[in-house]
Amino acid sequence: MIQKHVYIVMGVSGAGKTTIGKLLAKQLEIPFFDADDFHPVENVKKMESGVALKDDDREEWLENLSIKITEWQGKYGAVLACSALKEKYRKQLQVLPQDHITWIFLHSDYEVIRARIAGREGHYFKPELLQSQYESLELPSYGIHVDVDQSPEQIIDEIMEKVKNKAEIGLFGLGVMGQSLAINMASKGYSVSVYNRHIDKIEVDIAKNFVSENAGLKFQGYDNLKAFVESLEKPRNILLMVNAGKVVDFVIEDLLPYLEKNDLIIDGGNSHYKDTIRREKDLKKKNILFMGAGVSGGEEGARKGPSIMPGGPENSYKRVGPILEKIAARDKTGEPCCTYVGPDGAGHFVKMVHNGIEYGEMQLIAETYHLLRFHTSAKPDEIADLFEEWNRELQSYLLEISVDILRKKENGELLLDNILDAAKQKGTGGWSTNAALELGVPLDTISAAVMARNISGMKEQRAAAAKLYDLKTSEGENINELKSAFFEAYKATSIVNHAIGFDLLTAASKEYHWNLNLSEIARIWTNGCIIRSKLMEDLVAKFNNYQQHLLMQEEIVLEISNFRTSLLKVVGKALEAGFPVPVMSAAANYLLSFTVEQSSANMIQAQRDYFGAHTYERKDKARGEFFHTQWLQEEK
Ligand code: 6PG
Repeated sequence: MIQKHVYIVMGVSGAGKTTIGKLLAKQLEIPFFDADDFHPVENVKKMESGVALKDDDREEWLENLSIKITEWQGKYGAVLACSALKEKYRKQLQVLPQDHITWIFLHSDYEVIRARIAGREGHYFKPELLQSQYESLELPSYGIHVDVDQSPEQIIDEIMEKVKNKAEIGLFGLGVMGQSLAINMASKGYSVSVYNRHIDKIEVDIAKNFVSENAGLKFQGYDNLKAFVESLEKPRNILLMVNAGKVVDFVIEDLLPYLEKNDLIIDGGNSHYKDTIRREKDLKKKNILFMGAGVSGGEEGARKGPSIMPGGPENSYKRVGPILEKIAARDKTGEPCCTYVGPDGAGHFVKMVHNGIEYGEMQLIAETYHLLRFHTSAKPDEIADLFEEWNRELQSYLLEISVDILRKKENGELLLDNILDAAKQKGTGGWSTNAALELGVPLDTISAAVMARNISGMKEQRAAAAKLYDLKTSEGENINELKSAFFEAYKATSIVNHAIGFDLLTAASKEYHWNLNLSEIARIWTNGCIIRSKLMEDLVAKFNNYQQHLLMQEEIVLEISNFRTSLLKVVGKALEAGFPVPVMSAAANYLLSFTVEQSSANMIQAQRDYFGAHTYERKDKARGEFFHTQWLQEEK
């Protein structure tokens, strides 16, 4: 039995601290103490007369307890029942190193506890004080959490299961992101079991080596699935960090035989939101919980604090949310860049749109660089300086890394010039485009960025076509004369690209009833993720109490009105000079189409009606009334 350890059973009055504490002490064969017995007499009197204790009253009591805790640990260890509702009380009692004290938090819904108190006799705590206890309660993000809406025997079984050195979370898949997230979780004090498959000669002892390379952290490593699952506290939390697609289904299939009711799988990869919806439904039938959580930030973000977009059953988030929030990046007010996004596929949908915006921003930077480099003949270092100057205002992570890229030399030459100009993709940008098509919303900049990657991939054909067409570009423009127009065009495009991404979120939220909070989504994208920027920070406030199209927002209207001329000028100049600017011109076209009252679509409607009798609505009649014309008949 684990000796010389102090277990502090905490929770509101009525949660069963004394009953459970005594049973636990019996199981562990160590003494039990009730913190109430260490109150000064004045405190007991106050409580008996129904007066809530103030922090000053608690000082002496906590001091007594902290001395006792050290004493007990030095002898046999102990179980102490103590409310310890606030973090500052717990800090005062945490007099020993973390691995000498285990916090056991007994909790349940207010009504459950209230009913229990109402059924008790001879206890000096008044039920009316319960409300104030719930208000004071600050949930610990650590320790063992047990819902007490079950029998004492079940509660003890659950505690004993957790006490037996089980890991709080399992991480499946030690790729780059998996390793970084595992280190992040362990360095925040969580005990983590990690699993990586064994493939002869290819993936050998990955988990074992990972554990020994990170010996200072609390890891258990496995390449045996059953042992991995058994090493986890029940109900289990397993974070999958594997490639999106069929692999996720195979992994779930492999895990299923070892899982039990209420175990939770969190898919942290870039899975398609429809797969997530399907997996959650299928697993629900088997009593297994499933969440799809988008994770952004690459290797460094995962290690130091990513932006996390979890979706799925809200109850599951309550369970695993504290861990995810603890490992996430912080926004500028110190709040975690992780929030419960919404039900079923919402988390992965939001991550997909994050990536869609990412595609748009990346292409915007790429084509701006390309235009500057070849149209104005600016040197890479000059472009790096210019981007650096812009980024003092924009604070965009993607622009920041592009500055570094423009300065990276290899054997004295710019590395960028030796990188093949054919862009790869794993799917999220294209999926955003598909989703927009399904939902019937425009996605100009994002889909243009996807298509730009597609056409870049036709490298050989492009090279042959370049010879066939021999299109001359106009070069050698003076950069100084174009700088400010370029900057304004860049800013306008970036705003339009974000407006388009958020509009897709709005459409999905309506269609799937996800109730997405755009301001919160912008907030968790202000740090840790790839599209963090000053613009994103501004959007947090802009979307607060405002869920309309971003381009309708008053300040944005002003900004875009200022930049519009430059955007149109740069796009015009670029095309005339022979340079493709797919995202900038998509933004310009979107902007013009979005802000024009009379569009060209009356001609489309007429054509549809002409050849297919598809009917049309009229300006001079109510909406919803449909007309058809015999186009070839003479008007009488
Ligand atoms: C992130 C990134 C990351 C990755 C995507 C896009 O938010 O950390 O978006 O998820 O870059 O997989 O990759 P592709 O460009 O290959 O589609």
